[in-house]
Amino acid sequence: MQSDIERVLFDGPAINKRLNEMAARITADYPERELTVIAILTGSLMFMSDLLRRIPIPLKLDCLSVVSYHGQAQTSGEVMFKQLAVPDVAGRDVLIVDDILDTGHTLAAVRKKLETAKPRSIRVCVLLSKRKQRARDVDADYIGFEIEDEFVVGYGLDFMERYRNLPYIGVLRKELVEQPTQ
Ligand code: IMP
Ligand code: MG
Repeated sequence: MQSDIERVLFDGPAINKRLNEMAARITADYPERELTVIAILTGSLMFMSDLLRRIPIPLKLDCLSVVSYHGQAQTSGEVMFKQLAVPDVAGRDVLIVDDILDTGHTLAAVRKKLETAKPRSIRVCVLLSKRKQRARDVDADYIGFEIEDEFVVGYGLDFMERYRNLPYIGVLRKELVEQPTQ
């Protein structure tokens, strides 16, 4: 698995340090109201669980399963929700947590869906944001790290469902992205 990684971008200690900073900001931003965290599965699992353990305020957690990649490194643009029901977030302060902001299709679709449930506020928190022109106009309020437009894996992020368990974030070797083995 390690040999498939071209280079490591953020190791465990770097991720932990950044999570401490992000959690402190989020904690300070919600002093009065109970938060509702909506985590986008599966990529945000590690990030969400490590981040939330650093946020010592009352909150509720719900998860949404979204598919946009269909196993490829290129996004299809079409976002499918595995659950039919919209989480009940009426009147609540919602924090959407996702692994990475790439084209913006996923977060734009999730935001739109949650808005139909009339929350009090919605903010977006991502571990990574790619520096690129996005297909959809969507911004994150909390960003762990900005990265170049490269395909990364590890710490929850996958390529064809693999590499999620790497304890660091790294760039996948280009030839693997172009010619994946099953
Ligand atoms: P978007 O809809 O294009 O913004 O992509 C969002 C989703 O695509 C993320 O939640 C990831 O699951 C996946 N994704 C985008 N870029 C990468 C990457 O570099 N590595 C792994 N997954 C990615
Ligand atoms: Mg994903």
